[in-house]
Amino acid sequence: MAINNNLIKLENVYHRYNITRDIFTDISLDIVKGGFYFITGSSGSGKTTLLKLISSALSPSNGDIFFLGNKINQVPKNELYKIKRQIGFVFQDFRLLPHLTTYENVALPLRVHDKNEKDYKKDVVELLSWVNLEHCIHTYPNYLSGGEQQRAAIARAVVTSPKIILADEPTGNVDQSNSSKILTLFQEMNKLGTTIVIATHDEKLLSDINAPIIEIADKKINLNKRK
Ligand SMILES: Nc1ncnc2c1ncn2[C@@H]1O[C@H](COP(=O)(O)OP(=O)(O)O)[C@@H](O)[C@H]1O
Ligand SMILES: [Mg+2]
Repeated sequence: MAINNNLIKLENVYHRYNITRDIFTDISLDIVKGGFYFITGSSGSGKTTLLKLISSALSPSNGDIFFLGNKINQVPKNELYKIKRQIGFVFQDFRLLPHLTTYENVALPLRVHDKNEKDYKKDVVELLSWVNLEHCIHTYPNYLSGGEQQRAAIARAVVTSPKIILADEPTGNVDQSNSSKILTLFQEMNKLGTTIVIATHDEKLLSDINAPIIEIADKKINLNKRK
């Protein structure tokens, strides 16, 4: 059943990687269009797993996940890419391709979508300067600091203007000024209508933005709206 306000819906979702231990038992969650959410929970509680379920990178052991009212497991395999390209994921370990420069890594999702470089080059360079990477546009990832790699990973996730950005501990490796900058970037994208979900331990981030917190504990989630 489609509910107009929901971008993503989890319904009675269970997840286990192996039969000996459940990660989630019967969780339900509505991610509304244009919302801003944090995910918190102790290490190993399932933050990354929840982001993967929300992004449909991972199929739940049980239960349903909907994207704009479409049940993910009923979408034909050859149409899943249409959903996946509307989702930007910032991996905790960056996953930049070592044989591509910063510019090429960030532009890759556009190239994959068959876009013409002359139409996007200026935007990519502008985005790189926004995340303070203009000095390493032609540098390869192995020569970037952890913080620079993280900012490149964020730029790559936002370059296609996805409907939702999922970020796994995006300020884990950056100093305070870059952390604020990243947060501002997410807030500006949110103002433009992009839904944002950030998994984080960062108390400063949690206190700077009064967004609902999805708290994971004991294989369940609790949505703390804080208002
Ligand atoms: N691919 C996997 N196979 C088996 N167990 C996994 C896998 N990924 C994560 N886990 C386990 O699931 C639990 C939750 O992991 P994760 O979602 O990464 O937690 P968090 O991000 O909160 O630290 C952990 O106990 C972890 O070891
Ligand atoms: Mg994690």
